[in-house]
Amino acid sequence: MEQKEYTSWRLNLAFLALSLLFWKGVLAQIRYSIPEEQKDGAVVGNVAKDLDIDLRTLKERGFRIVSTTGESPFKISQYDGLLYVNRKIDREGVCERSTPCVINIKIALESPLEIHYVTVEVMDINDHAPIFPEKEKRLEIAENALLGARFQLQAARDPDGGINSVQVYKLSHSEHFRIEVIDRGADRKMPFLILQKALDRETKPNHKFLLTALDGGKPPKSGSMDITVDVIDVNDNMPVFTKDTYSVKLSENAPIGTTVIQVNATDLDAGPNGEVFYIFGHDVDNDLRSRFDLDPVSGEIIVKGQLDFEERDQYEIDIQASDKAPAPLTTDKSVLIQIVDVNDNAPEIEVTSFSSTIPEDSKTGTTVALISVSDLDSGVNGKVSCSVHEDVLSS
Ligand SMILES: *[C@@H]1O[C@H](CO)[C@@H](O)[C@H](O)[C@H]1NC(C)=O
Repeated sequence: MEQKEYTSWRLNLAFLALSLLFWKGVLAQIRYSIPEEQKDGAVVGNVAKDLDIDLRTLKERGFRIVSTTGESPFKISQYDGLLYVNRKIDREGVCERSTPCVINIKIALESPLEIHYVTVEVMDINDHAPIFPEKEKRLEIAENALLGARFQLQAARDPDGGINSVQVYKLSHSEHFRIEVIDRGADRKMPFLILQKALDRETKPNHKFLLTALDGGKPPKSGSMDITVDVIDVNDNMPVFTKDTYSVKLSENAPIGTTVIQVNATDLDAGPNGEVFYIFGHDVDNDLRSRFDLDPVSGEIIVKGQLDFEERDQYEIDIQASDKAPAPLTTDKSVLIQIVDVNDNAPEIEVTSFSSTIPEDSKTGTTVALISVSDLDSGVNGKVSCSVHEDVLSS
C-alpha cells in the first residue's frame, strides 16, 4: 500500500514536471453531474467523445485515470471511452455538508501527453430522513406562563443538503401551543414552542403532542419526537368551604372537649398551595377564645370553657381557611352557634314585704306578704307555679 502511494506520488510529480514542459498538453476541464448512490457501472459521461479523442487510439495511448489518493470512485474504459461509477458514492460521506459536492479527477493520455481535468458533481438525493436527537422531550411550564412565551426545542438533523434537509416542523393538534421556526441559515432551522392559550394545571396537568420534522424531498421524509409539557402549579386557587353556612345548636351544659361542629375547606392547587389550615378571624375576641378552640388541621370547633345560656345565647365565630403557599390565599366564614337552655336554675322566691303580726280579725283579702317568684331559665324551664301550704300559715 505504502509502495503504491509512493509510486503514484512519484507518477504525479512526473506528470507535474511534464505538464510544465508541455503546457499545451493541458486542456480545458469538463464537468459532469450524477446523483449520489448510483450503482457500480452507472455511466457518468462520455469522456472520449467530449474530449474528441479517437476511440481506436485509447488503448495505445494509455487512456486512464490518475489517482492521487487510494482507489478512485470512478473508472474509465479504454474500450468505449466512458467514465463509469466504480463504487457507490455517498454524498454525505464524501462532502459532509459542503455544497456543491464535487470530485475532481485527472485523466491522462500519453504520446503526446495530455492531461484532462474532469469535475464530477455529486447531486444530493433525499436518502436521509430527519432525526431528532431524542425520542421524547419533557418540558416544565408554570401555569401562569404568559401568552407568547417561547420554549426552544431541539432541532432535527438531516444529513441531506439544500431542499432535502429539514424544511418544516409540524405540531400534532394542540390548542395551547404552536410551533415557530427561526431560520439561522445553512440548513439550521430552530423550532420553538409558543404558548397561545393560557394553561391551567387544575384543568389539565400535562399536555402531550408530537413534533414532526419534514424535509423538502418528493415525497418528503419525516422524523418525529414526543413532547410532554408538565404544567407547574401556581397558587391561583383560594380555599373554598364545602358548605355555604355553618350553624349548630349546643347545649349550655356541653362538657369541655365537646366537638361542636367541623368546618371543611378545600383548595384545588397542588402541594402546599393546596394544603388548608384554619384559624380564628382577627375579630374573634378573647371571651370567645376562652370558650372555644379551633383545631387548625381538622377544622373542629371544640368547647373550651363554661357556656351559659343565661349569659349569652349565641356565638358567631369568624373562621379563616388559609393555604400554605408563601403568599397564601384565604377565605373567611362565620359559624353560628346557638346555645340551648337546660333547666339549671331553680326558681327564686323573693318576699318583698310582709306583716309580722296579723290581727285575727283581719278581713279576707288583706295583703299579708308580697312574694315574687322568678326563674332564670327560659321557656318551659323558666315557668313557675306557686302554691301556699297550710303549715306555713299555722306557724
Ligand atoms: C372535606 O371535603 C372534601 C371534599 O368534599 C372531602 O374529600 C374531605 O374528606 C372532607 N374532609 C373532612 C375532614 O370532612
